[in-house]
Amino acid sequence: MLKNNPQAERKMEGKSKKETGKSGGRFLFFAFCLFTFSFAAACRYDMQDQPRYKALKKSDFFKDGKAMRELPEGTVPRGFLREDKAFYTGKTEAGQNATTAPNPAATPATDASGNTLVTDFSGLIEEFPVPVSKELIDRGEQRYKVFCIVCHGPVGNGDGMIVRRGFSKPPTYNDDRLRNAPVGHFYDVITNGQGKMNSYASQVPPADRWAIVAYIRTLQISQNPNGANMPMTPMNRTNTNAPTPTMNNANPAAATETHGGAR
Ligand code: HEC
Repeated sequence: MLKNNPQAERKMEGKSKKETGKSGGRFLFFAFCLFTFSFAAACRYDMQDQPRYKALKKSDFFKDGKAMRELPEGTVPRGFLREDKAFYTGKTEAGQNATTAPNPAATPATDASGNTLVTDFSGLIEEFPVPVSKELIDRGEQRYKVFCIVCHGPVGNGDGMIVRRGFSKPPTYNDDRLRNAPVGHFYDVITNGQGKMNSYASQVPPADRWAIVAYIRTLQISQNPNGANMPMTPMNRTNTNAPTPTMNNANPAAATETHGGAR
């Protein structure tokens, strides 16, 4: 359109001269930036390029010849201080310091299924290191049904579905030996396993282990004809708010129920 109109073209020329001046400045500025920053990029010195040691390599710099430094004594990974030893181990101070099993000579007895019948519970705490509340027991019930019921059965008689399908039968929780076992024993078995039972430490965090132990105690009370007066000393002695031995958490009907169906 402009080409056909010489007057307009002239007008535009004047204008475009001015514009050329402006865009020339912009071009110069751009060129300057390009120039400067391309140098800056060339000078980049990333952390991955700097001189460094690889893990476990030799070093001439340090006296001990190791590139890796020793951790200062007492270093603890973040979140692993675990000062409350009783909570994290289920053991008394003596039990924590013991280097051998409580008393190996006292525990060689096995039952008909080949289970180790532990009778020496020394070094294990008798008191729950956490307050026992309904919430704790409810949580324990839920976790028990996830991780333990398959072998130990709905009320802890050792008749879980896996056992019915051939896995060796664990001892019942409902005899005097385990009724009188300290809470630390149950915690310890969950943490470290025992005999044919694996450790459940990686699946069940410490707080949940105590919840499960509280639920096991509830099962034991529910399965004892004298439940109401049951000398659950470890539990009764320890907790002002210990669960009253009612059947609320371990419904007697559920006791005979075969979860998953008998086959
Ligand atoms: C795969 C089956 C299986 C599962 C799942 C299992 N257990 Fe066991 N448990 C056993 C067997 C078998 C034994 C007997 C081990 C032995 O003495 O050789 C046992 C033993 C125990 C004992 C020791 C009893 C004693 O005689 O001192 C406790 C306590 C226990 N289990 C608690 C638990 C808890 C709590 C869970 C869930 C976190 C659990 N178990 C999950 C199979 C299992």
